Amino acid sequence: DKGGWSSFMAKEISEEPDAVANTIRGRVEGGQVVIPELAGLDELFLDINRIVIIACGTAAYAGTVGTYAIERWAGIPVTVELSHEFRYRDPVIDARTLVISVSQSGETMDTLMAVRFASESGAKTLSICNTQGATIARESDAVVYTHAGPEVAVASTKAFTAQITALYLFGLHLARVRGTQTPQFLASQVEELQAVPDKIASILGASEKIAQLAHWMADSRAVLFLGRHVGYPIALEGALKLKELAYIHAEGFAGGELKHGPIALIEPGQPVFVVVPSPRGSAILHPKVISTIEEIRARGARVIAIAEQGDAAVLPSADEVIPIPLAGPLFEPLLAVIPLHIFAMELATAKGLDVDQPRNLAKSVTVE
Ligand code: F6R
Repeated sequence: DKGGWSSFMAKEISEEPDAVANTIRGRVEGGQVVIPELAGLDELFLDINRIVIIACGTAAYAGTVGTYAIERWAGIPVTVELSHEFRYRDPVIDARTLVISVSQSGETMDTLMAVRFASESGAKTLSICNTQGATIARESDAVVYTHAGPEVAVASTKAFTAQITALYLFGLHLARVRGTQTPQFLASQVEELQAVPDKIASILGASEKIAQLAHWMADSRAVLFLGRHVGYPIALEGALKLKELAYIHAEGFAGGELKHGPIALIEPGQPVFVVVPSPRGSAILHPKVISTIEEIRARGARVIAIAEQGDAAVLPSADEVIPIPLAGPLFEPLLAVIPLHIFAMELATAKGLDVDQPRNLAKSVTVE
């Protein structure tokens, strides 16, 4: 039931605040993250010396966002890899490796095969999954469910924000168990996470401008997305969603990579979304991203910046600014992705496409 919305996707984007809030619920005790499903695993968490996150598509981008936060908080090396690439090389993993799979459906065959391979190699496995009792959840040593609720639209939206939330909760749980941060610092991060749903809701309330932009851009042949640090996987997610829903050629790049090749693509009129980090939270990266914007604009790019509201540097340099509320650097991706989800949906709608059922795609990819 679309509950009065024009599509399941519109409904599911509107549910992104709840997806985050419901995933946090029951997992905070006295200002600290305590995930009941992970009770009894402290010894394992003290013993591991690295984490490998495996997933496909959007879930892999959520995993990439997770790597930054888990390393920052828990001080343990974390890498992310596409399940199908991980499975068919010879990864060096052992009993001290924790392999975390991220999957909305819990049935993605590529990820299931990678989880089985990890178990056979002696690694411990943890599943982040949105579907109760799914195969990947059952076959893993532990599971932390996302509580996004059923996702019907083929392309993932609310499951993505819930996956980042679950990875963050895991990172904060792990940091507490390993004692890598002070309880005060961890409590401040928990508070930031708890503030996210209302901030997402405020972005949803101001989505008219994004819809307008999408209508203007409906004839674009290609759209580029740039981001750095946690903004990089958000750029990748924005590009994937636009390909899937609107069938427009879209690419996401790490901002720092631009001059190593992709800048050759910039020609007059080329639309480029840029995820701009907060000037307060990212004193080093913010000016670098602003100078990237200036560089591509000098070559004629049309820049749509997603930036912290009140960011004075971005206003004169971008063509359009989509403001997001203030948040700590690690929490910006949960906000910056919302305009990109809305944009892809609105652009597909403007082209008269079925946003819930894009061509050639299935909700759950149960073959390798
Ligand atoms: C993109 C999308 C896909 C899935 C991917 C993994 O919008 O929906 O890229 O994210 O197929 O699916 P799950 O999370 O079910 O393993």
